[in-house]
Amino acid sequence: CAAPVVAIDGPVASGKSSVGKAAAQILGLRFLDTGIMYRAVTWLALHSGVAATDTGAVAELAAACRMELAQSDNTDAAIMVDGKPLGTELMSADVDENVSAVSAVRAVRVELVRQQRGIASSGAMVMAGRDIGSVVLPNADLKLYIDAAPEERARRRHAQILLVDPGIQYDRVLADTLRRDGLDMERADSPLVAAADAVIIRTDDMDFEQTVSAVVSAIQSVA
Ligand code: C5P
Repeated sequence: CAAPVVAIDGPVASGKSSVGKAAAQILGLRFLDTGIMYRAVTWLALHSGVAATDTGAVAELAAACRMELAQSDNTDAAIMVDGKPLGTELMSADVDENVSAVSAVRAVRVELVRQQRGIASSGAMVMAGRDIGSVVLPNADLKLYIDAAPEERARRRHAQILLVDPGIQYDRVLADTLRRDGLDMERADSPLVAAADAVIIRTDDMDFEQTVSAVVSAIQSVA
C-alpha cells in the first residue's frame, strides 16, 4: 500500500498525538489529531455562551463549522476552524473540563466523524483519537492502540503541566486522568476501545523516541 491510512487510538496522555505527529512527519504523511476537533467545538461553545451541556446548541455549533488541517508550516495552529487558526487556546483548563461532555453528544460525533472521513478520503495520513480504528476508519491499512498504565500517563502529564503551572500536584493530575479515562471508556456512543485488529503498543517502559521508532516501523511494514 503506497498511501497508507493509519489509525492511532489510545487513552488520555498515552502519547498517541505527539508520537503520531512525529511519525507522520518522518514519513511525510498528513496528520490529524481528532481530539483537537472535539476541543474546538468545546471552545466555540464556551466562547459563544453555549453551555457544554446544551446538547442541541452544541450540535448546531458542530454542524455549522468547517474544520481543515492547518498548514504544517503554521506551527502555532492545531486546526483551522472556518478559516481561523486555533492552537494553544484549545488546551486550556476550561476546555479540558468540558470536552468530555461535548464529545459524548451523538450529533457532535456524527458531524465530526463525517468531517474526519472527508479529510481521510483525500489520501495517505495518520489520524489519532479514541475511535479511529473502531468507528471512523474501520478499513484503515494499519490500526495502532497506544497504551500505558494510568500512573505512568499521569506522571508524563504532570511533568508537562508543571512547565506552565509549577504548583500542580501529581495526585490531582492522576485523579483527572482516571476521571477522563472513565468518561471516555464508559460513554454509550463510540467508547474508547482497542479495535479487534489493532496492534497494541505498551509504552510504560519506552521513551518518546523509542515509541516513535516503533510506530514508524509499524507504518513502514504496511506502506
Ligand atoms: O486527545 P484529547 O485529550 O485532546 O481529546 C479531548 C477529548 O475529546 C477526549 O477526552 C475525548 O473525550 C474526546 N475525543 C473523542 N474522540 C476522539 C478524540 C477525542 O471522543 N476521536
